[in-house]
Amino acid sequence: MPVRLDRPLSKLRNADEAVMLSQLQGNILKGHGRNRTAQVFLRVKAGKAAQARTFLREYAADKLMSAGQQLEAAAIVKREGPESTNPLVNRAFITIVISATGYQALGITPEQTPGDAAFLEGLKIRGAQLNDPPKNTWHQGYRGQLHVMILLAARADVEASDFASAIELELIDLIARVPKKAITFVGMERGRVYENQHRKGIEHFGFVDGRSQPLLLEEDVEKEDADPTGAFIWNPAFPLSQVLVKDPAVADPNVFGSYFVFRKLEQNVKAFRAAEDALQQQLTALATSAGKIYPPDLAGATLVGRFRDGTPVTLQEHDGAHTPVLNNFDFADDMQGLKCPFHAHIRKTNPRGDTFRLFGAPQNGIGGERSRIMARRGMAYGKRKEIAGQFTDKPSARVGLLFMAYQGNIAEQFEFTQAQWANNQGFVKINNGVDPIIGQGGTVGQTHRAGWNDGAAPTEQQFFSDFVTLKGGEYFFAPSLGFFAGL
Ligand code: HEM
Repeated sequence: MPVRLDRPLSKLRNADEAVMLSQLQGNILKGHGRNRTAQVFLRVKAGKAAQARTFLREYAADKLMSAGQQLEAAAIVKREGPESTNPLVNRAFITIVISATGYQALGITPEQTPGDAAFLEGLKIRGAQLNDPPKNTWHQGYRGQLHVMILLAARADVEASDFASAIELELIDLIARVPKKAITFVGMERGRVYENQHRKGIEHFGFVDGRSQPLLLEEDVEKEDADPTGAFIWNPAFPLSQVLVKDPAVADPNVFGSYFVFRKLEQNVKAFRAAEDALQQQLTALATSAGKIYPPDLAGATLVGRFRDGTPVTLQEHDGAHTPVLNNFDFADDMQGLKCPFHAHIRKTNPRGDTFRLFGAPQNGIGGERSRIMARRGMAYGKRKEIAGQFTDKPSARVGLLFMAYQGNIAEQFEFTQAQWANNQGFVKINNGVDPIIGQGGTVGQTHRAGWNDGAAPTEQQFFSDFVTLKGGEYFFAPSLGFFAGL
């Protein structure tokens, strides 16, 4: 039985699915779960394809974590606990992705190169249609070609440490092994997980992040928070085709890879927090003048669609639903956008059925709303000061999100989400404004309401955006283990 791409991976794996898991890189079907990463960018020197291929073949054979090994390691942790000394659990989690210019520089034939048009053009060219800032404003290292990105991930041994020793050891090994005559180190980013007081991962504006994911494994769907009757209001189960595409370099039909988008998104925390506080004060004053009360922290929650602790603002007007952070909701009871505005980041980037309820648009299949969803694997970068899960500083630069996401089609998933939803001032309704977190190129303000679920509450229009700035990135492909073996 070939691998079925039209559903999540079943728990009862057949022989073809076992091949798929042994050949697919880890981190695609499920996040690696490590709290420190290093992303190393490499460029192959002209005329040095053969040496570069040899290095990648040998390095991948030694180091890559397959999807199958990742699941095996997770099963060991479940059996033996996180203190397990099993080497599969404790070794660094390593993945390798390659850009279209990287495929070329390695001398891979066009037939063996993934064919997605956006991937082949690369982010620098495609950025124009995303309203990306020009390349000459990007961080220096990103302005030239990036051929290969190696992701090293591990758990920090010491809670407060910025580094994980497994990563440092792997970096030393990588630097020693890279053939300097054939490959240039372009640069490196370090990623890390920051957690709030409830031990949930947060991004730099302080909001719980990474909660809502397409679940691609039957066992993960089973663990998800259905309501007490077992029903999903938001169905978190997605078909494997959401992230998997056939690896064109390997003949076996069970061998897959995935497109990977990397964007370094700098966050101006100082300016965002000031604008958020100002909005909270303005809406409080507006509510007071109308004889109403505006709840604390609501302004920020309506920008993201969740309170800082992850509570969905469409469900309640205050935070508190943090353990577990809920994800089994949609916006069917909020079709005026009186609780969660239509411009909120999570409603823009996953309307959870709004396009069906408003226009009868298809949800599933090609072009359907659910077909846009990506497997997000982002990590925060940059140093913060924190006490007990609370940031105590407000940097204006040098911190942000290393946005990383796997998908089956870059134009239809990442690019569609960014350009047609987040940047589109007319989505999902006219004069909606851009996504206040990631919208690029907006001109009209969003309508902010001085109340929750109150159609009579006064509103004010204000432009809220541009606190996140792209500083570099590229489109990549995560090839199969068989691709590397054949280099
Ligand atoms: C610095 C930049 C960004 C920040 C601070 C940010 C922040 C957040 C936060 C706090 C959440 C809620 C947690 C969750 O539901 O998982 C979220 C969810 C999400 N974000 Fe972002 N994000 C950023 C960039 C992006 C980009 C570039 C995209 C895609 C173009 C994106 C797409 C999504 C999606 C699809 C969700 C889940 C929505 C859902 O299923 O409910 N984000 N983001």
